[in-house]
Amino acid sequence: MKTVIIIPTWNEQKNISRLIEELQQQFLNIAHDMHILVVDDNSPDGTAETVKQLQSMYPNIHLLRGRKQGLGAAYVRGMTHALNVLKADVVFEMDADFSHKPSDVPRLHQALDEGADFVIGSRYVEGGSIPDEWGWHRRMNSRYGNIVARYLAGLYQVRDCTAGFRAIRSTLLKKIDLSNLKVQGYAFQVALLFEALIHKAKIKEIPVEFVDRIHGESKLGMSDIIEFIINAWWLRFRASATFLKFLITGASGVIVNLGMFTALLYFGVNKYIASPIAIETSILSNFALNNGWTFRSRQTKDTLQIRGLKFNFVSLLALSLSYSTFVFLSFMFPTWPPQLNQFIGIMPATLVNYFLNSYWTFKN
Ligand code: GDD
Repeated sequence: MKTVIIIPTWNEQKNISRLIEELQQQFLNIAHDMHILVVDDNSPDGTAETVKQLQSMYPNIHLLRGRKQGLGAAYVRGMTHALNVLKADVVFEMDADFSHKPSDVPRLHQALDEGADFVIGSRYVEGGSIPDEWGWHRRMNSRYGNIVARYLAGLYQVRDCTAGFRAIRSTLLKKIDLSNLKVQGYAFQVALLFEALIHKAKIKEIPVEFVDRIHGESKLGMSDIIEFIINAWWLRFRASATFLKFLITGASGVIVNLGMFTALLYFGVNKYIASPIAIETSILSNFALNNGWTFRSRQTKDTLQIRGLKFNFVSLLALSLSYSTFVFLSFMFPTWPPQLNQFIGIMPATLVNYFLNSYWTFKN
């Protein structure tokens, strides 16, 4: 079997030669034809030149150069090259900065040899870990990214959806239209995993210790985070007609809410009283539609009464969230029209409503 380890690089000159040397040592423990493909975006620090020098020592090193377009774009180019030009049977994704230990490569390959299609070096299964040195910001990014991928994009069954250390069978990759993933940066990890699950890939998570880099710094930027969130929403749309129905229901609830609120104001009701009445009316109309349409096909094991009780609880939570947002905004921005504050208050309430109803009230 021919295996190609794809390593995207942007300014990794201080890491790349030692990584390649250590990988060559590990290849001695793997009974496959092992190759390395460095995908460098013309790093100004001379990463590619270092790789070229190593190419004269090792025939199994390949170099692909291109314009900097992001981590995901580099992987798409690398995987396309590995499949079509190098004729790989297996490809790996791996960072250049020793975050992923070369000594874990044989374990990931082993899991693939044992029948998995898509092996993830996972930090969030038992035995896996993130670095102690990570500050709260990096920890939160990683945890939050996984929560968004699992619960928004719908990849619940995977614990580490954002991992960048993975081994994938080419038979699976060939079924996926890589050029159509429409992501440039770190969102690639979730976009590819989503496609793998659509194609019913056998996914296996192997615990790994993620090590903090010593040389250089993370290239994750704000645009990557924004793309990540937009992509998760897009995947949610694609994954579920349920969510679309929920949004249509929600939109009808907005009309009910604002209509009722405006009518109450018109009849002279105080805005702080009109707001919760309007919210509650829209929650009730949302429930009627969600129960009879959005989640109609769900085989919930609860009786109608229990479902009703759960719904009431969710409604109360959504009501208090929406109302407290409304009160907060009314105090903070007294000149804003009350309809605007009311509208903003609906947003978090809608999300909480969806997740609690989908994963609790109407759980299959
Ligand atoms: N060619 C290319 N182009 N390579 C890039 C680019 C790019 O635009 N951006 C980053 N890289 C390379 C880096 O040089 C490194 O080898 C690898 O991609 C990962 O980049 P880092 O910047 O070190 O990633 P990170 O530590 O923030 O993120 C890691 O963990 C994330 C999950 O927490 C990666 O493994 C991510 O893939 C993973 O999602």
